[in-house]
Parts: sequence; structure tokens; C-alpha cells
Amino acid sequence: MDEISESKIIGVATRRIDGPLKVSGAAMYASDHSFPGLLYAWPVCATIAKGSVARLDTAEAGKMTGVAAIYHRANIGNLYRVPPAAGFSLIIDEKRPPFEDDVIRYYGQYIAVVVANTVEQARAAAERVKVTYNREKPDADSKMTGSPLTTDKPDEKSKRGDTAAALRSAKVKVDNVYSIPAETHNPIELHASVAVYDGQKFTLYETSQAVVNHRDVLAQVLGVPPEQVQVITRFLGSGFGGKLWPWPQSALAAACARNLNRPVKLVVSRQMMFQTVGHRPAIEQRIQLAAEPDGKLTALQQDYVNHTSILDDYDEGCGEVTPFMYSTPNLLVTGGLARRNVGNPTAMRGPGAVPGLFALESGMDELAVSLKMDPVQLRLNNEPEIDESLRIPFSSRHMKECLTTGAEKFGWANRTPEVGSMRRDGLTLGWGVAACSWLAARTEAEASVELRQDGTARVACGTQDIGGGTYTILAQIVSHETGIPVSKINVVLGDSALPSGPISGGSWVTASVTPAVLDAARNARKTLLLAAVKSDNSPFKGKKPDDLEFVDAMVRLKGQAQSAVPMSEILRIAKVSSVSGAGKSQGTFGAAKPEFSFHSYGAQFAEVTWQSEIARLRVSRVVTVIDAGRIINPRPAQNQIEGAVVMGVGMALFEETIYDSRSGAPINNNLADYVMAVNADTPQIDVTFLDYPDYKLNPLGVRGVGEIGLAGVAAAITSAVYHATGIRVRDLPVRIEDLLPMAKMSIA
Ligand code: MOS
Repeated sequence: MDEISESKIIGVATRRIDGPLKVSGAAMYASDHSFPGLLYAWPVCATIAKGSVARLDTAEAGKMTGVAAIYHRANIGNLYRVPPAAGFSLIIDEKRPPFEDDVIRYYGQYIAVVVANTVEQARAAAERVKVTYNREKPDADSKMTGSPLTTDKPDEKSKRGDTAAALRSAKVKVDNVYSIPAETHNPIELHASVAVYDGQKFTLYETSQAVVNHRDVLAQVLGVPPEQVQVITRFLGSGFGGKLWPWPQSALAAACARNLNRPVKLVVSRQMMFQTVGHRPAIEQRIQLAAEPDGKLTALQQDYVNHTSILDDYDEGCGEVTPFMYSTPNLLVTGGLARRNVGNPTAMRGPGAVPGLFALESGMDELAVSLKMDPVQLRLNNEPEIDESLRIPFSSRHMKECLTTGAEKFGWANRTPEVGSMRRDGLTLGWGVAACSWLAARTEAEASVELRQDGTARVACGTQDIGGGTYTILAQIVSHETGIPVSKINVVLGDSALPSGPISGGSWVTASVTPAVLDAARNARKTLLLAAVKSDNSPFKGKKPDDLEFVDAMVRLKGQAQSAVPMSEILRIAKVSSVSGAGKSQGTFGAAKPEFSFHSYGAQFAEVTWQSEIARLRVSRVVTVIDAGRIINPRPAQNQIEGAVVMGVGMALFEETIYDSRSGAPINNNLADYVMAVNADTPQIDVTFLDYPDYKLNPLGVRGVGEIGLAGVAAAITSAVYHATGIRVRDLPVRIEDLLPMAKMSIA
């Protein structure tokens, strides 16, 4: 036990402080912002995926009612690329700013933008802009990676031992190819940019998971100093990685506002969401595993290819967790890119690890079948002592306990391994398991805390709450440190003008920002104690700050409860409205040689029911055990895992962006045809957190839970499908057609 373990607020399930604003409609999302004189922009999107614009005729559109301007390559004004930068700065998904040239590289690429008094007028006029193309045959279809794995020369991502020799001499071996189709992020909140320009400064209301990066990027793109750009994202209707880095609509809205000296709103339509704001690429992976008959791994090779766009190199990094998941003397991970005529892919929840673990954990299940070994036992038998790729210890790894606790909660001991051998209520049951991991890290962060005479506190940071609960946990941290109740703590986020805060990505925000807030709260306390000993009329006048402590929002002599004076009283005596403290914390990236291997871990157990008479497959139950360090607020943490599991059901059974090979267009570009898991598809979900603090990462021992819950779910489900039906689906999503050979339908 430590001071934090005994906290009355850290680790205690706490309602979201932003909940009332959200359910009452008072929370302002980007597109909710409106200003006098606001104009609406609607882009003209390319209807070919490869070629060039031969002619753009805006004459008719320009005369339509309400149209203020039509911008294109010839008249948009200067938009620049961002220079190369190190670390987590100046990141943009498409390095080419909109309208830079006349070349079309993907379907939906913006080629002009109409600005009008209403969104309907802008859209109507955009449809009347006549574009003549020089067409070429695009390289884009639903099987983006092609087959076999022949693309740009693959890179070696991780290597140890002699994998080729070990595979050649293997006693037991599995060798299979797994594929994942392109998946499109579909947050309910559409991407949107509202740009306000006052002749010098841009204020941009954005859908951003990283307001500070967005500011820095847009300053470069617009060619102005960062002080002349402010980016605001108070609330985000989720992002899943699609809103991490700026997309072209932001530059367009800002350029239109600059040109017209009027506020401009550009909301990306759902159709455009499938074209111009990223997606998880299609991925093909070959997994080769070799083992001794007792299940000890002797070799592991993973070769992956993901599609990227024509100009940008998006690497999905499917080997993210492979090198340290299991103990094996021989390992090789390679990755390659397949260049296609599509918009650039980007990070989608658990990039790299999530698709990587679908393949790796499917491979482990297939190996368990070959060995006739329990798949939980196979994983336990291959648990590494250290990170064998970096040859350093793990900071805190409880993978075995995830597996054994999950097995117990799920009732795994009752599993009979034979295919189709388990039944309940007339349904065939399938039980599958997968292990998972996700990287843990910290990025630099700054924050400020103010203690106010009215008895409240204010904590500010230029990070943002993307729906995961950041507002609430920062209030909890300040409450823990000061004794001020959460209800009296005002958390201010989502503004690039605040102290520089981290990206809400990588599941790093909690680990990154909490030390800075803790530091800021402690510095604010120092100033408060100084005010207590220095102010005339203070009962503590003349004492040393070291004689005092700050407990339950009161200043007192150490250990002397009867001497306590409320913070508000001290500040009133001192005649100041508030005292404040600044806090700062360092990142873990860029260390020359890391001392520890930082990751979160988990185990996913899935149950499917299979009704062969009507070929009906359902995911009925998921038990998930997560080792993600200390959990600051179990309530939203559980939400994160539950949401991720539902997303995993979608990944396994439904999600797939289909591209038309003739036009390169994503054709199921709407929420009716792009199928996602909904409430009716949601299994019973049992979430357990092991709650081992990881003090090597962070003074609070926290790691983060945004992505780990999705990792491994798809493999657990397809392994359960195999257990129920005997059919191993290696190409996601599982289609009912895949299972028809095992259906026993009588068709009259
Ligand atoms: Mo996450 S894909 O880093 O938003």
C-alpha cells in the first residue's frame, strides 16, 4: 500500500463530470460553433481515383444563389507543406496540402470548395462544378494488398536467431495467411472545422485528438507563426485515431476564412468520411510458428503488408507486439507497403497491435489445435521472463494472471476441445481465447492548477477529452492532492492556448498528463503555504512552509487538525483571488536505451453460439482481464474496455470497406451499408482490471486503457467459431457464407 492506494478518490468509481453537459446538449462540439456572418463550405470531390483534372468549369456554380466563392488550385492562395520534425510534433496524415497540383491520386480527393450562405446552397453549387478529367486506371480494389505478398521490398522490423533454419527443422509447424479488409472509422461526430479569421489570427474549432499538434501543423500550412493559430476542441464525439492528425478540410476551412474574411464552417459528410479522413488499411499477414511437441515455441515469423496511399507511407506496424509476446529463440518480423490509389490510411484504435494480434493469436490457436494442447496452456508455456527482443525487463507484466483469472471467470475448465462438442439450449457453443498487449508510454505534458479564493480549483491543460474520461480523472488527481471535492474542480481542456498538453492517442494521455497535473497541484500548494506564512493577519504568519500541511482543502500545522484554516480563508486574508502552480512531466520517447519494456496486457475469452439449422452465429459472452497499471477511475475505464470489445465484435463479424475496382470508390460509404456492431450484437461483457500499479512508467502507476480492450478480441472470436464449427476463418470479417458448409439447413 502507498499513499495513492489509500486515496479516497483515486481508484474510486467516479461519475463523469462532463456527463450533465453532454446529456443536456450543452457540450459544444466543433460543428456546434456558429458566428455572425458564418458561411458554409462544401468540397468538390474527385470522382476518379487516378488521373488529373483537365478542366474545371465553375461558371454555372458561381452564379447560383448564395454562393460567395469557389476556390480551387488557381485561387485558394498559399498553402504549404509541413517541414520534417522529430517526435510527436508537426504530424499530418497527408503531406500534400489540398489543391497543390492537378493530379488525382484517390477517389474523393478535394479539387475545389464552394462557400455559400447555407450548407444546402454550397452543396448544390458543388454538384454543379463541372470537372473534366484525364482518366487512368486506378490501382484500388477491396483486396488492397494483393496476393501473394509481393509489394515494395519488405523491411526487417525485428529479428533474432535463425528463424529460417528453425522453421525448416520444426517438429510441429503452422503456416497460414490472415487478412483484414480496410476498416473505416465511424465516430458519430463527423469531422468538422469552423474557422474564424480576424485579419491576423485564426481561431479553429476542430474535431481533434491533439489540439497542440493541430495548431502547429495549421500554422505551417497557413504560413503564419503558431501564436496566430488557436485550436479548440472542448468535446469530441470520439475519434478512434481518425482525428489524431489534421485532414485537408481544416486547411480548406481556414483558407476560405482567410480569403473571405468571414467565419467558415466545413463539416465532412459521412460519405466523405470514407474517402478523405483515413481508415485502417487492408492488411495481409503470414504467420509461421514452429514448436516442440511439448508446445515450446522455437520460431515465430510474421510477414505483413498493408496498403498505403500514393504520396504517404502509412505503416500499420503489425509487428508492434510480436517481438515480446512470447519466448522464442528465433523470431523475424517483416513489413511492406502496397501503394494504392486511396486516401491515406491512418491509426485506428490499436494500430499495429490489433491486426497483428488477430494474426498472431489465430496462429497460436491453430498451433494449439495441431499440438492437441489447451490454448491457454500453450500461452502459459511460452511466457517470457524478459522482453527478448530488447533484452530488458518488463516494467510490470501479469499476462499469466490475465489468462488464469480469465479462464476461471469464464469457466474454461469446462471446455471440451473437440469441435462442435459443446451445446447449450439447442445451440452449439464455441469457446476461444486470445492474449493481447498494447504499448505503454508517456509524452511530454504541461499543466497548471489554480487554487481559488471561492474554494474552487481550476486545472488546465492543452490536451483534450475524446470521450474517455480525461476531464474526470484530472479532477480526481487535483481532488486527491488538495482535498477539494471533485464537484468544486473546474477542468479546462481542449484549447491549444492552454499549457502544452499531450495527444489523446496511443492510450497515453492518462500516463502523460497525470504527472504534470500532480506536479502543478503540488506547486500550487507551495504557493498557498507561502501565502499562509507571509500574509499579515494569517494565523500561520511567521511559520515556515515546512511547518504546514494542506489537508482536506485546509491549511494546518502538521498533524494539528484543530489549527486548520480553509484554503479560501487563507486566500482572503492574503487578498489574492488565487494561487497557481505550473507542472511539467517528461516523455518516455527518444530514450537512447530504454531500461524497461512498457506495455499493458490482457486476455480475451469469447463464447459464440452457432445455430446450424439457420446458419446463425452470435457472440454471446466475452470475459476480458486487463493488466493496465493502476486504474484511476474504474467507471470510464470499464466503458473503454466494453466499447472496445463491441468494436472487436464488429471487426470479427462485420466491418469492411469495399472499394470498387473500376472507380476506386469506397461504395459502402454510409452507416447502412458499412455494418458495425450495435446494441443487439453486444455480448455479455465481463471486465476485470488486475490493477497492479506500474511505478516504473509513472508516479501514479497508470498506463491507459483506450486501445488494449480491442486487441485480441477478433482472434478469440474466430477461434471460438472454429471450436463451434470446425471452420477457421482467416479472412475477416467472418461471413455467414464462410460457415454455410457446416450449416444443416433443410431447404424445401
Ligand atoms: Mo489512437 S488509434 O492512438 O487514437
